[in-house]
Amino acid sequence: MKSWDDIRHTADLLGEKGFGKIDIIIILGSGLGRTIEQVDILHQLPYDQIAGFPHSTVSFHAGNLILAQIAGKRCAVLQGRSHFYEGHSMGDIAFPIRVLHSLGAKQLITSGAAGCMNLDWMKGDIMLLSDHINLLPTNPLIGPNDERIGTRFPDMSEAYSRSTNAMCRRLSAQLGFIVREGVYAAVTGPMLESPAEYRFLRTIGADAVGMSIIPEVIAAKHVGMTCTGLVVLTDVCDPSDLKPINIPDIISTATKADSKLAEIITHLIAAS
Ligand code: HPA
Repeated sequence: MKSWDDIRHTADLLGEKGFGKIDIIIILGSGLGRTIEQVDILHQLPYDQIAGFPHSTVSFHAGNLILAQIAGKRCAVLQGRSHFYEGHSMGDIAFPIRVLHSLGAKQLITSGAAGCMNLDWMKGDIMLLSDHINLLPTNPLIGPNDERIGTRFPDMSEAYSRSTNAMCRRLSAQLGFIVREGVYAAVTGPMLESPAEYRFLRTIGADAVGMSIIPEVIAAKHVGMTCTGLVVLTDVCDPSDLKPINIPDIISTATKADSKLAEIITHLIAAS
């Protein structure tokens, strides 16, 4: 398990490499990379050169920490993430958030691909997270709590910033994009869900399901950050008519929506 000293050690190393003073953390999930294609990249490091950063074992996830200047803000972009299903511990998944927060980050913008149980919406739509349901069997706060990192019992009444979500809705309308807003549930994966599982997820109030996002958001709330989550709805999961889904199809749907997502994220950063 990683300690406060490990966090400080990696933060100091990143500081020496020019990553000191971060404003915003951005996580780019499956098939989503456009956000950093047209920005000023100040520094870039592969995760395997950063002490304690977990390495992604998923082929379509790059593993780089990028420092980019976006709309005058210093953004630490995690290009690719680690998942629980890869065997990473929750502490390892939370580690980059804790390190980058200790370099000053106050805001997290996270993204990913998700299956859609809300049958009024469409494949390729973008959904802003209004809230979440954690169905992973554990979370990054299990174990002894170090008060230097965060409080023992963090509040989750506003996991996703209502004011940032309102700003995001306004910006998306100005850009002419439809953005849905709903509840995201996280499951372990790596298998996709059975029809009964999608029906269950819908019944308990989830609009979308994925295999990530929530551990990093819990770690970010623990240290007192504000969070925004945006997912591309890559497959519509109708339990009464479930079609086989494959990952290349999910990635290609995410990639098609990526330029819209990148525009929303850059406008949001400029307005934050
Ligand atoms: N289930 C879980 N994770 C996902 C899905 C899904 O249907 N689609 C994209 N990520």
